[in-house]
Amino acid sequence: MSSPAVAFARENHARFLDELKDLLRIPSISTLPEHAGDCRTAAETLAAEFRRIGMENVRLIETVHEGGHPMVYADWLHAAGKPTVLVYGHYDVQPVDPVDEWLSPPFEPTERNGNVYARGAVDDKGQVWMQVKALESLLATGGLPLNVRVLLEGEEEVGGEGIAAYVASKPADLKADFALVSDTEMFAPDLPTLCVGLRGMIYTELEVKGAKTDLHSGMYGGAAPNPFMALAHILAKLKDENGHILIPEFYGDVHAPSQQELDAWKSLPFDEEHYRESEVGSKTLVGEEGYTVLERTWARPTLEVHGMPGGFTGAGAKTVIPARALAKVSMRLVPNMTPAKAFEQYKAYVEKIAPAGVDVSVRLIHQGDPCLIPVDNQYIQAAVRAMHDVWGKDTVFIRSGGSIPIVGDFDRHLGLPSVMLGFGLPDDNLHAPNEKFNLKNFRLGIESLVRFLEEAGA
Ligand code: BES
Ligand code: MN
Ligand code: MN
Repeated sequence: MSSPAVAFARENHARFLDELKDLLRIPSISTLPEHAGDCRTAAETLAAEFRRIGMENVRLIETVHEGGHPMVYADWLHAAGKPTVLVYGHYDVQPVDPVDEWLSPPFEPTERNGNVYARGAVDDKGQVWMQVKALESLLATGGLPLNVRVLLEGEEEVGGEGIAAYVASKPADLKADFALVSDTEMFAPDLPTLCVGLRGMIYTELEVKGAKTDLHSGMYGGAAPNPFMALAHILAKLKDENGHILIPEFYGDVHAPSQQELDAWKSLPFDEEHYRESEVGSKTLVGEEGYTVLERTWARPTLEVHGMPGGFTGAGAKTVIPARALAKVSMRLVPNMTPAKAFEQYKAYVEKIAPAGVDVSVRLIHQGDPCLIPVDNQYIQAAVRAMHDVWGKDTVFIRSGGSIPIVGDFDRHLGLPSVMLGFGLPDDNLHAPNEKFNLKNFRLGIESLVRFLEEAGA
């Protein structure tokens, strides 16, 4: 189908890309307090653009908790009798370290071999910009084919506390029929993909305290407890060598994928050896026996240690028994598990296995529910038609091991099914050095979103 909005998007593509680069220059790292001003600048930049393209009721919605960053709201509600979409994305990005490993600076967007490289290129500013440019293309060529509300957040990468509270309050502003989320990946290049499931998570800090102060390791070693050793013992009891989590009852609520879903995953173009070499780069893959890699990363819970701050980590040597040790530990949850129950099980177990001589405490930093989207609705079908139109192929349905906490909340609090239409690629280096967004995906992603909104409003 030929669409004037698609034609507009093609004619204006060079400008769209230049504007994306401007957005990528803003270092909106949500976890670092010194970048709070940059987060606000990104929010204001997006709000200004919504006003310019003709969206209405544009405003920042403040989040009230400490260190929060504003949401951006906009709407256009003149398609009488048509459904309403809630468009979601996030403008915040992850930190850039290790910065030495970037081939071009993270906030100086640079084109190389068909990609634009920058922090946030794919996660998620590039994808948010696709949404904005799809709306612009439609507004510039006769108006939107359905009613649109937009809600962007700046705290996704730190757990999304502000938007979670806002959505839970069920504001009239969020009344809609479905959500459009562009923050996921295609399974492979040129393979149109809908993501229909995400893992949830709990992110925790596990603290171990021993002596009342740091101690000379010669004078006291042998008599004083070492919190790092205690921490190592605890961590070693959380997950075994085969990737099985040892917290009692942890798997009790795990919902296995349907046979139909498992069969569909088997026919996806997945080469385990290529994945090991090109994406992971380790000698072997690890994990639970009896499960494929896709099952392990999409449909099984996991537990990871992210860092262990504390003690002496400088150059050289210091003979000290630190008074305290810390580990950042997260668990990914799969459908039917709940963050509250998983955290209780983990906390009770850690307290039980703590070695003599130390005190342990666990703290929940953030959490998010898993989600699984029913695919038998008209909006998913509209997406499949739109994708076929742009990519000339049938859409594959996948899950992802990542988390987007608000997607579960859209369902639970607002009753909205989400259409997760994302255009990242498996090698886009999300959260890592040299994050990129494929330029063809940026271009066809805009066209796909235009066509999707047209089909959803048809
Ligand atoms: N966009 C990602 C999640 C994602 C990645 C979905 C790849 C599908 C494919 C999102 O920005 C993200 O990184 N989420 C965090 C959530 C956490 C900080 C609460 C995650 O998954 O670690
Ligand atoms: Mn994201
Ligand atoms: Mn992310």
